[in-house]
Amino acid sequence: MTDQAHDEVAARWNQNADQWTNDVRNGYDVYRNLFTFPAFQQFLPAIAGLEVIDFGCGEGTNTRHFAQMGAKVTGIDISQGLIEHARRAEIADPAGVTYKIASYSSDTGFPASSFDAVISTMALMDGPDFQGAMCEAYRLLRPGGFVAFSVLHPCFITPGLQWQKDEHGQITGLCVARYFDRSSFTEKWKFGNRPEEENVVPFAVPRFPRTIGDYLNAVASAGFHISRIEEPQPTEEACKIVPRFSRWRDLGAFLLLVMAARPR
Ligand SMILES: C[S@@+](CC[C@H](N)C(=O)[O-])C[C@H]1O[C@@H](n2cnc3c(N)ncnc32)[C@H](O)[C@@H]1O
Repeated sequence: MTDQAHDEVAARWNQNADQWTNDVRNGYDVYRNLFTFPAFQQFLPAIAGLEVIDFGCGEGTNTRHFAQMGAKVTGIDISQGLIEHARRAEIADPAGVTYKIASYSSDTGFPASSFDAVISTMALMDGPDFQGAMCEAYRLLRPGGFVAFSVLHPCFITPGLQWQKDEHGQITGLCVARYFDRSSFTEKWKFGNRPEEENVVPFAVPRFPRTIGDYLNAVASAGFHISRIEEPQPTEEACKIVPRFSRWRDLGAFLLLVMAARPR
């Protein structure tokens, strides 16, 4: 990862940090609460008693859940602003998590073979050097350890994604476009169910599209053995609460979950 790319990603997430933390902790991230995190928790093996590092931990909501599942957790993130929020939550209500400002795609400063699991939720599509992240994950893991991560599904959330609609405006299909366009771009968005308020600035999230082959080949070439891939659909219950989730039940996959082991 070049210094310039590192600085740009860190600067964007520092700008997002306060609003992001406020919105996540006020429950506006319904995708996380009702879909992506429950699916990831089901996917994860038991982590109680393991030493775990969370790559791209953000303000630490998921990281704290991993600690509550019994793991000894370290969270790293490139954004100083998000790590400050995470540390403040830890001081206010200790869960035993240690945080560090570091990029997951270069030397994080921890000794080799010092963790049992590398975990990452919805963060590895937001950095430019996925291969670097897998090499660092491999270095940090003890033999027999595993990496488990979630990302936006690269085959469906493509840079040219468009929704196909019928004459009544109902969504009937997902059009994949520009799948092979790996140009980075900055996506501006807000959480969908956030109340409208004048002073809310959309998040600016740098994105680094890659194909499914880019992801899986980087995992394998770092030395891992891929053991499980899942593409979970939202549950019926979640679709009842948030009807727009049904497009990810019926039309295409939103999430890609990958688990891979460092051989013994
Ligand atoms: C969408 S947020 C997800 C945060 C958290 N995992 C969660 O699920 O709430 C993406 C995170 O990746 C972090 N990030 C992006 N590139 C990074 C890098 N190279 N190293 C560490 N963190 C990075 C961002 O700062 C941001 O906190």
